[in-house]
Amino acid sequence: MAPHTEQLTRSAVRLRGLTRSFGGRTVLDGIDLDIPAGQFTALLGHSGSGKSTLLRAVAGLDHEVEGSGQLTAPERVSVVFQDSRLLPWRRVLDNVLLGTEGKEAAAKGREALAEVGLKGRERAWPSELSGGEAQRAALARSLVREPELLLADEPFGALDALTRIRMHGLLRELWERHRPSVLLVTHDVDEAVALAERVLVLEEGRIGVDVVIDRERPREEYREVLLGALGVTSDVR
Ligand SMILES: Nc1ncnc2c1ncn2[C@@H]1O[C@H](COP(=O)(O)OP(=O)(O)OP(=O)(O)O)[C@@H](O)[C@H]1O
Ligand SMILES: [Mg+2]
Repeated sequence: MAPHTEQLTRSAVRLRGLTRSFGGRTVLDGIDLDIPAGQFTALLGHSGSGKSTLLRAVAGLDHEVEGSGQLTAPERVSVVFQDSRLLPWRRVLDNVLLGTEGKEAAAKGREALAEVGLKGRERAWPSELSGGEAQRAALARSLVREPELLLADEPFGALDALTRIRMHGLLRELWERHRPSVLLVTHDVDEAVALAERVLVLEEGRIGVDVVIDRERPREEYREVLLGALGVTSDVR
């Protein structure tokens, strides 16, 4: 059954038995998942565990989801990928505005660029931006759509440590201000624990761990549990 999308007031994402196979190999094996509206969720998992596959399915970009997969997601969904995917032949503001129309959109685009610290760079070409700036422009592009659901697939993976920390702060800030539901794919346990309210681990096609992060508790406790779930033992940490 193909996934279908409908507006739900309480869940931003609702998956029932989501299954995806490639050439007879099952990558997602009957996933059940609810993400309440406004929740910031991080998804961890080994390379090849199916994180991007799951995100693509939630984004509605995968039309070959099989089984009894049922997916409901909000109408306004934005996706941010590991690389910024800016079109090189369009200036930064035009990239941000891609697919939007009208004067109001242009004003919002400028505002979004200002929010990510790129005021004054509206007319720059993507090739003139650093990696971090391009990623921020991509974030601005997703914000212009005022997403109810922000899906991000390792959006900071290619950035240096310092830019990464700045981007973490920016994403948290934007989330606090706009309150979209967020599903952030990462393989960085510290990033997940620092940013999210809830952390999932994808293992063998299922959600193996599902923890709510209590900010009152030491982060180290969550690191231990999550690193353990990922099979990282203390002697290699
Ligand atoms: N279009 C495709 N055709 C065939 N196999 C695919 C396709 N897309 C994904 N796969 C396979 O599905 C598995 C999960 O891939 P996926 O990209 O979801 O992993 P991931 O958890 O995002 O990994 P990474 O952390 O390396 O990005 C992999 O074994 C991959 O080879
Ligand atoms: Mg991936």
